[in-house]
Amino acid sequence: MKVSQRASSVAGSATLALATRAKEMAASGLDVVSMAVGEPDFSTPEAVREAVRVSVADGRVRYTPAGGTASLRAALAGAAGRSRGIELSPSQVVVTHSCKHALNLALVALTEPGDRVLLLEPVWGSYDAAVRWVGAEPVRVAPRADLGPDLDAIAAAARGARGVMLNSPTNPSGFVWSDEELRGILAIAEEHDLWVISDEIYRRLTYGDRPATSPLSLGEGARERVLAVDGASKSLAMTGFRIGCVLGPEAHVQAITNIQSETTGCPNALSQDAWESALLEEPAEVAGWVAAFQRRRDLLVAGLRELGLECTLPGGAFYAFPDATPFLDERGSEGLCADLLESEQLVLVPGSVFGMDSHVRLSYALGEPDLERALKRLGRFLESRRG
Ligand SMILES: Cc1ncc(COP(=O)(O)O)c(C=O)c1O
Repeated sequence: MKVSQRASSVAGSATLALATRAKEMAASGLDVVSMAVGEPDFSTPEAVREAVRVSVADGRVRYTPAGGTASLRAALAGAAGRSRGIELSPSQVVVTHSCKHALNLALVALTEPGDRVLLLEPVWGSYDAAVRWVGAEPVRVAPRADLGPDLDAIAAAARGARGVMLNSPTNPSGFVWSDEELRGILAIAEEHDLWVISDEIYRRLTYGDRPATSPLSLGEGARERVLAVDGASKSLAMTGFRIGCVLGPEAHVQAITNIQSETTGCPNALSQDAWESALLEEPAEVAGWVAAFQRRRDLLVAGLRELGLECTLPGGAFYAFPDATPFLDERGSEGLCADLLESEQLVLVPGSVFGMDSHVRLSYALGEPDLERALKRLGRFLESRRG
């Protein structure tokens, strides 16, 4: 019995594999510091846990409508609409099993086999897999030197393409798109009749004076060609709940609901109730987390720069993405990360995972003492490479 070509084309998430490896090493007694993590280290808010307890006690543990409960869709339409400054109706919202699932469903709803889809480097590795999985073809576009979008290069690649994946704040660089840049890409999308999938999973996590604007906020025309995906994992520390959504035109929301009803069925009932509780009243902890991430970002980036690594200041998410070129050998970022793991038990993610072998990704979703330890280990390692 053969594994199908389609299934074999998916290698499995490199970052998840690294994070799992780090956990295994720690469990075997090694003193590992993992900066591979893509999840907040904060505990899920108490109000969210309490909502789950109440739902279990009340027996709300059965199938819900395939696109999510009416009350969660209404809460999402209200909260997502308010935060993006637009009117959204529940018929423009479908609840999914996670943001990852949301973006896979959005791709199913938008692509035909062979369609060219633009991926803007540095790009989260899962987009590549998701695009291939639906039979479309990823087309990669390199960034500007500051890791922001190169609109000229995007315009050149847009000829013959069908869609583009956006992610602001960006995993892995933390780059936050300006409104001007978003208007620029929407103009390109209009000229070449591209759809846009806007991954807004880190939208709430920005630091400094540039909030993450959703392209949905930029006019009626944009709303006709954009599907936004979002979820509870990152800003509410609800990674294990596996809950997300797609926001967009009714026809696409209905198509996604139909696919979901025939494949996975409804999203987890308890996770839906839990998310709804957090949308109706943002848990008190969240604002404090944003401030803590900002402090950690500042500590980490200052430390990296002191070690001689060039690093643009990330405006959001919880990753730094410095240029490691001076410290690389012929094995590139993977070789560097492998040596670092071996010699210092420090886990970073190679930039090759994101299409930029010159860089490495460090998550700062870990406490300040661990950040300090990580910087010490990295400093020792880089010093040994210099020598
Ligand atoms: C850019 C991006 N989108 C989506 C996700 C997945 O979110 P979820 O946990 O809701 O599937 C991640 C997680 O790392 C991410 O970095």
